[in-house]
Amino acid sequence: MAVNDDELTPLDVMRNAPVIPVIVLNDVAHAVPMARALVAGGIRMLEVTLRTNVALACIEAIAKEVPEAVVGAGTVRSAADAQAAALAGSRFAVSPGYTRAVGKACHELGLPLLPGVATGSEIMMAQEDGYTELKFFPAMQAGGPAMLKAWSGPFGDVKFCPTGGVTPANAKEFLALPNVVCVGGSWLTPADAVAAGDWTRITQLALEAAKLSA
Ligand code: 3PG
Repeated sequence: MAVNDDELTPLDVMRNAPVIPVIVLNDVAHAVPMARALVAGGIRMLEVTLRTNVALACIEAIAKEVPEAVVGAGTVRSAADAQAAALAGSRFAVSPGYTRAVGKACHELGLPLLPGVATGSEIMMAQEDGYTELKFFPAMQAGGPAMLKAWSGPFGDVKFCPTGGVTPANAKEFLALPNVVCVGGSWLTPADAVAAGDWTRITQLALEAAKLSA
């Protein structure tokens, strides 16, 4: 789906493909070939988690060298994380939970944010701050599809990206729910494939993920 990159919204981030890959990179040399491999498979929104000391350098490399990709930062846990992510060239942010400080920082930076929620109170706090497209994390551990069905009543105006324990086997069940736009998962970039530079395998996993639907 075409995206107006200049005015990227959280919904654009969610709608581009059925899966947002959750990426952990330990070597900056892997960033560009991995991003190209995912894009070749039709997966363009890439969440690089701020979990390694090269994560920001990887985001910067992808932003500069892979214009077909839209790189975002995952594991954003503070305003400082959001600022560093934006400075490195992140186009969106994903957080494992929600705080007002992260919400405010992303708003001020113009960084579309998918805040992580696992309870009704967290949904209400994110909504109060203007966030209505949310990451449900950790999705399987926190109640899976049944939880999303229960939320569709009181939170019928909220859309979710379930992440955490989502696999090719259960993704369809999530994607079939009316309040789910996409899912997130780490299975597109297995650590062994990244370490071995097996980009063909990553493209294949991306191709299969891009075809997922309810
Ligand atoms: C994470 O934060 O690591 C993501 O939720 C990915 O979870 P997964 O490895 O279960 O896909």
